[in-house]
Amino acid sequence: MSNRRPLIAGNWKMHKTGKEAVEAAKALKALVAGVTSVEVMIAPTFTTLAQVSAEIATSPIALGAQNMHWEPKGAFTGEIAADMLVDAGCRYVILGHSERRQFFGETDQTVNKKIRAAVQSGLSPVFCIGESEAEREAGQTFSVLDKQIRKGLESFVLQDLQALVVAYEPVWAIGTGKTATKEQAQEVHAHLRAELGQMFGADFAQRMRILYGGSVKPSNVKELMAMPDVDGALVGGASLDPETFSQLVHYQS
Ligand code: 13P
Repeated sequence: MSNRRPLIAGNWKMHKTGKEAVEAAKALKALVAGVTSVEVMIAPTFTTLAQVSAEIATSPIALGAQNMHWEPKGAFTGEIAADMLVDAGCRYVILGHSERRQFFGETDQTVNKKIRAAVQSGLSPVFCIGESEAEREAGQTFSVLDKQIRKGLESFVLQDLQALVVAYEPVWAIGTGKTATKEQAQEVHAHLRAELGQMFGADFAQRMRILYGGSVKPSNVKELMAMPDVDGALVGGASLDPETFSQLVHYQS
């Protein structure tokens, strides 16, 4: 049994107005009150971060953002810097999500810069990696993931990465209803832990939380979380409804 504290994180993507976000946060706060064995995080849109932060201030729910820029400030129209996220109440930031890689030109290099900037501002990066369906079918899953992780964490030293969380999100499982089987998730997570162990040492790799993401829902969360190297979930669709998301948080009961 590992002593890694599970993290159940909700990525709200581009959903909810301010009112809807605050209502959902309020409902969730009540539904997960008293939960200490699992850490809970929600990542609303930029425009609702401060409101949601105020709503969850007196709860153990942590706030995360879905992206950021790597520069601390400057002429970068439409971008948000790490310190601005801290200022809005964030503790986490999701970086390198496949939707950002696919639709917004995110690369391993930009993710690397963002992870560095997040760490420097005291944010915990949730570093997302994942293979496409074609890559899996071509037998390239491990080589794709290894490249993403090695480039994403290139030139980091161990002390920079104490707050890092890795999220394995197979692209073919995101929003498709197709979940990786518990065996597929475990196989990849164990591989990633071994890879991180080679890069930064076995002690670090044993402490590091690796989340699974991709069509996680109440009907499959328990079996995924029972896998020895699955330390939590990064949840899209099923995080939008507080009742459903709270069922994920309460996966042990
Ligand atoms: P779904 O849970 O909707 O498949 O999304 C997963 C995801 O992308 C979380 O970041």
